[in-house]
Amino acid sequence: MYNKLVTRRDFVKAAAVTTAAFSTFNILGAQAVAGIHTSKIKVALIGCGGRGKGALKNFLEAAKLLGVEVEVVAVADAFQDQIEGAITQFSLDPSVGHSGFTAYQAVAQSDAEVVLMATPPNFRPVHFDACVQAGKHCFIEKPVAVDPVGARKVIATGELAAKKGLTVVAGTQRRHQQNYQEMAAKIQAGAIGEIVGGSVSWNMGTLWTYPRKPGMSHADFLARNWLNFTEMSGDHIVEQHVHQLDVVNWMMGRMPRTFVGMGGCARRGVAGGNQFDFFSLDMDYGDGIHILSQCRQIDGCYNRVGESFRGTEGYTNGVKVTGKEVSIAPVQVDHTSGTVQEHVDLLRSIRGEGEPLNRSREVADATMCAIAGRIAAYTGKLIRWVDLTENTDSPYYGLELSPKALDFETGDIAMPSLEPAIPGEATDWKLRS
Ligand SMILES: NC(=O)c1ccc[n+]([C@@H]2O[C@H](COP(=O)([O-])OP(=O)(O)OC[C@H]3O[C@@H](n4cnc5c(N)ncnc54)[C@H](O)[C@@H]3O)[C@@H](O)[C@H]2O)c1
Repeated sequence: MYNKLVTRRDFVKAAAVTTAAFSTFNILGAQAVAGIHTSKIKVALIGCGGRGKGALKNFLEAAKLLGVEVEVVAVADAFQDQIEGAITQFSLDPSVGHSGFTAYQAVAQSDAEVVLMATPPNFRPVHFDACVQAGKHCFIEKPVAVDPVGARKVIATGELAAKKGLTVVAGTQRRHQQNYQEMAAKIQAGAIGEIVGGSVSWNMGTLWTYPRKPGMSHADFLARNWLNFTEMSGDHIVEQHVHQLDVVNWMMGRMPRTFVGMGGCARRGVAGGNQFDFFSLDMDYGDGIHILSQCRQIDGCYNRVGESFRGTEGYTNGVKVTGKEVSIAPVQVDHTSGTVQEHVDLLRSIRGEGEPLNRSREVADATMCAIAGRIAAYTGKLIRWVDLTENTDSPYYGLELSPKALDFETGDIAMPSLEPAIPGEATDWKLRS
């Protein structure tokens, strides 16, 4: 059943991974489970940009907190200058660098035990699959796909990872923050009663663009300027707003049934790319319950990043819960930053403390919600969750944006259309596939 959120416990059961198998394992001991030799943990990075280097820094800090020695055995990026940035920042031997669109394969073939992935999102399904096939524990940055085919591939790969006893942690860091975990626990304990509505937003200013340089191939330009192309990023409703949609799924405990959205392009026409600059989305959960979402990337406007929920007996604003007094188990974290804590949790899961973590389904579901919202806004149609997840007759089910990740490996690619979608006229699958 796609519509049911899969809990960590369900995942473990489904994968028949026994807790006993993990509990015998200690990261500081000499045991090896799922390929981990724990006196020193070997890590690799795919995508040496801002977040990739940030994730590696966070991983090193987390390992230090737990007293684990780390060896960086491979760093991969499409571009040599990005690799050199990582080599300089982390004082690595240049021989660990691999460049090009197939460089992820060198990481999969390396002796890394954990791989951190932070390329543009369109590459994630292919890279994640290669790493899990090779038996690596994975950290996958959000979002994890740009189309329904990619999101479902990540779910399948996540299930394979569970079968192999591999840990998967995603870059949805709110799941690892004490304040969000406490809010979730209070809501689950009934502090605000039943959630009957909510509003979430990521409204902020303009992000960066990478100007095209003379002689640049389409592939290189798109991989550099990925943030402005739907085919690469999923659009900012997917790339950025996925964080809020993940929080909604977490607090609601179920997926929306339908999506109605709108949006438009107010400034990217000038800056380049083919994305919208703003979206508004109505997600219908049934029983008269709607969650409204907004996201915008335009300078000089009112900004808000956060979530609020209205319940039958209270409400939340940000992570502040106003309602009934409830008792929850203490939430303990090792670090105040979710982006460090997620790596602490990854390492703890690898060494068998508590339940093994596999966040692939949660992040793929949140990504799929964001994709549904984008399709609703681009087409102007009502989009049903099942059209992306179960209904193989739906034109949206098989939507795969083009150029695809593998096209980058096999040669030059065609530039996608520079025209943003026109609701009511263009349909996402015709415009982009
Ligand atoms: N969790 C968070 O809060 C957070 C914050 C920022 C970014 N992110 C996510 O991290 C990912 C990367 O974002 P960023 O800000 O670091 O972008 P970035 O442009 O700084 O880095 C991306 C890197 O990937 C490289 N790259 C592109 N295609 C590649 C390929 N096929 N193989 C290998 N390398 C490739 C680029 O050269 C670049 O170095 C995105 O998915 C983004 O949404 C998450």
